[in-house]
Amino acid sequence: MLDVTALVDEFPGPDAKVTAVSSDVMPGGTALNASVTFAYLGGDATLVTSLGASGLIRDFLVEDLVQYGVHVEDICTDPAYRVPVSTVVSTRKLGTRMIINDAAEDCSSLVDRSDFLADGFDLIQLDQYERHFVEQQYAAIREFDGPVILDGGSWKGWSTGFLRLTDIPIVSEVFCQGGPRAFAAMCNEMSITRWAVTRGARGVLWRDGQSEGEIPAVRVDAVDTLGAGDIFHGAFCHAYLRSGDFAPALASASQVAARSCQSVGTRSWMND
Ligand SMILES: Nc1ncnc2c1ncn2[C@@H]1O[C@H](COP(=O)(O)OP(=O)(O)OP(=O)(O)O)[C@@H](O)[C@H]1O
Ligand SMILES: [Mg+2]
Repeated sequence: MLDVTALVDEFPGPDAKVTAVSSDVMPGGTALNASVTFAYLGGDATLVTSLGASGLIRDFLVEDLVQYGVHVEDICTDPAYRVPVSTVVSTRKLGTRMIINDAAEDCSSLVDRSDFLADGFDLIQLDQYERHFVEQQYAAIREFDGPVILDGGSWKGWSTGFLRLTDIPIVSEVFCQGGPRAFAAMCNEMSITRWAVTRGARGVLWRDGQSEGEIPAVRVDAVDTLGAGDIFHGAFCHAYLRSGDFAPALASASQVAARSCQSVGTRSWMND
């Protein structure tokens, strides 16, 4: 995804104008931000995505991912595919953001990569995009030996199918339409024993077999929470692969995510 971002002091009302404190055009999207975080923390990340036809946007994305040490696999063969644009306005005052997502469909014209998972990955993280590719790889992902983690942002028509592939769903509050209890019951039905729900500044709820708990968010003066959930996921995957300990990996991810909230955008925390 391409993020067009503006940080403002306060959201302008209807028909009003404000001047941004800062603005940017940045590669973004759930899995992209997670993979950049994972690589920044020292992991070896491959982002599987659709880059679209050759041109400025594609070059920009590839150059950025190379810079952050993320390998990229382009799965889309549709020359007309265009990378979706997300328009994000964050407020400094409220430490919150609004996002206007592109209506673009996932690429459905795909490379045939039956060997795709033969490359020795340790962990798969899915967001809910590239669903045609996930469908194509469904059996291979099911048989995958390592943990499959799902970042569930909001509930989609195909979320159940993604959950069935998942060992550990770590989902945002809005994904749990009937609330965390209903989500817990759904996981139970699907024999998912390890899951977490992230709730922004109100921290994380988790369950691991018979154990459950709550990890309070680190108290920070949030300047910009854009991508906090994605960064949380990249950091979680990194910590979890190292230790295999679920709750401590969530706690470590919440430290990294809180750090990212203290500076503008999805990357500047890496320089602090
Ligand atoms: N204001 C904040 N202060 C401290 N930590 C935060 C704050 N906002 C988010 N976090 C951390 O980041 C984690 C993920 O945030 P959140 O639950 O908002 O993700 P999300 O709903 O997936 O949003 P997105 O993916 O759009 O960033 C939280 O569980 C928390 O640990
Ligand atoms: Mg999220």
